[in-house]
Amino acid sequence: MFRSHTCGELRPEHAGQEVILAGWVHRRRDHGPLIFIDLRDRYGLTQVVFDSATAPEAHGIASESRPEYVLQVRGLIGRRPEDSINPELPTGAIEMHAVVATILNPALTPPLSIAREGGEEEALRLKYRYLDLRRERMQRNMRLRHRVIKFMRDFLDREGFLEIETPILIKSTPEGARDYLVPSRLYPGKFYALPQSPQQLKQLLMVAGYDKYFQIARCFRDEDQRADRQPEFTQLDLEMSFVEQEDILNLIERLLVELVREVTPHKRLMTPFPRLTYAEALERYGTDKPDLRYALELVNLSDIVADTQFQVFKSALEQGGQVKGVRIPGCGSYSRKQLDELTELARSAGARGLAWVTLPSDATAAPRSSFGRLVTTTEMNNIIDRMGGQPGDLLLLLADRAEVVATGLDRLRREFATRLNLADPQLLSFVWIIEFPLLEWNKDEHRWDAVHHPFTAPLDADLAMLASDPGQVRAQAYDVALNGYEAGGGSIRIHQRSIQQQLFQCLGMSAEIAQAQFGHLLEAFEYGAPPHGGIALGLDRLIMLLADEITIREVMAFPKTQQAVDLLTNAPSTVDEQQLQDLQIMICKKPM
Ligand code: AMO
Repeated sequence: MFRSHTCGELRPEHAGQEVILAGWVHRRRDHGPLIFIDLRDRYGLTQVVFDSATAPEAHGIASESRPEYVLQVRGLIGRRPEDSINPELPTGAIEMHAVVATILNPALTPPLSIAREGGEEEALRLKYRYLDLRRERMQRNMRLRHRVIKFMRDFLDREGFLEIETPILIKSTPEGARDYLVPSRLYPGKFYALPQSPQQLKQLLMVAGYDKYFQIARCFRDEDQRADRQPEFTQLDLEMSFVEQEDILNLIERLLVELVREVTPHKRLMTPFPRLTYAEALERYGTDKPDLRYALELVNLSDIVADTQFQVFKSALEQGGQVKGVRIPGCGSYSRKQLDELTELARSAGARGLAWVTLPSDATAAPRSSFGRLVTTTEMNNIIDRMGGQPGDLLLLLADRAEVVATGLDRLRREFATRLNLADPQLLSFVWIIEFPLLEWNKDEHRWDAVHHPFTAPLDADLAMLASDPGQVRAQAYDVALNGYEAGGGSIRIHQRSIQQQLFQCLGMSAEIAQAQFGHLLEAFEYGAPPHGGIALGLDRLIMLLADEITIREVMAFPKTQQAVDLLTNAPSTVDEQQLQDLQIMICKKPM
């Protein structure tokens, strides 16, 4: 027997028993004739005492041992003396008196301390991920990840879903991001793609009659990386037949509420999840993934300044833009320097400048403003009124195209939530965003793009507009946002060939190209495709928020850097000339 117990399970009732433990040297305290080692495995820590008087050989092993040596120790469990009980540790009331010890494997001095977490560069943690994963934080996150996925599997099993795996080598089709390609050796010059999501396959499973499908699905997207984006990530992907939007929303809401209650019961939820239309979310928060843990709502001022002579407002409105603002309570005493910094922040989010008003805490004193002399007193008073300005407040205004105003004010809103500590870290504020537009105009390519993906169904009521006014068509698409992140998205799908073809046409695809790329799906729709719809939750993001982390890398065992590099194995890397020859691939430099 290698070990009789784990390092986390011994309690006072084990006193008097002889046990065998195996684990890593976590800490070692050398008091000469007595050496104390905290032996660690993933279940916990047990204090082992090595006494030179009673077990000289084992004591010798302990004095040779260093942090992260792997030991096997046989010994007797005893209660700790009253004054050395450690109430912080589940095993803190006992200790092991070593009888025989063996070094199973020595260890070099680790480049990062397992016992003392934090302080080092993330690159070092990623290079030595197998050491970083030994630490409490990562262990906690991996346990949570397991519990979340286990819960989802059990929940969906109870609901009658089947878990079905779909292939990782598939056909490359345009779906949004760039594909990762895999060259085919047997068919030189041809490529598989790694799935950006199992979207088309799960729809084909619905055509096949599987009715309720789910998968813990790995997705691959070659896109710019951010704190909440990785080149490969995991979704809870699901699809159902004979459902409407409401059925999917209800199921996922129940799943998420029960998940949080079971897995992170210390977190609080707002139920039922509020719902905002896409238009409402943009109007009130400037984003389709608003953090609703705090207010700071945006206020539209366009009508108030409709006749203004102030050039910045006037020209924005003349060009079809907006003037909007956000009221920041209690920041009316901001200095010029602080306001300049905010202007820079707004600029970094794409705005051309920032207009501000500070309201002194003395209500009789006049407001200060970056544009005070350029608007009339009535206009200024109306702006302050509409924004609900109180003494001591700071009012921030942007005038520009609607998208620029939205992005800028969203940036400022989030900045002040952080500065003023407005977001309750224990609150999970899920919100459904519904009625997305189906299409958005791509200025660079001069064509319509699908907002969600090309398989999303239009709202029945808007179907007729698909030919006449595509930009106005709303989709049967929905996102679930959580604390300012997009945690998931899905839609009711098109299940009729003619409508799917019409949509491809809207997206600027010729009938031949649609046939070449999506012929399999179009054909399948002619063999009895049921009405269907589904959703995918971004598991990494969801688990990140449940774990109170700020990057998804912290909840992935072996993530890549923001530059899409795996520092542990050094991928991507060059390959053998022979491998390239087998694939008939030649590397040529991009022409400058
Ligand atoms: P979508 O592209 O919206 O939908 O993806 C669903 C969710 O996956 C997460 N996500 C990511 N997480 C980490 N890194 C990334 N690079 C990344 N990209 C997306 C987000 C997102 O909300 N097939 C459709 C779903 C459907 O229609 O059923 C899809 O993939 O949390």
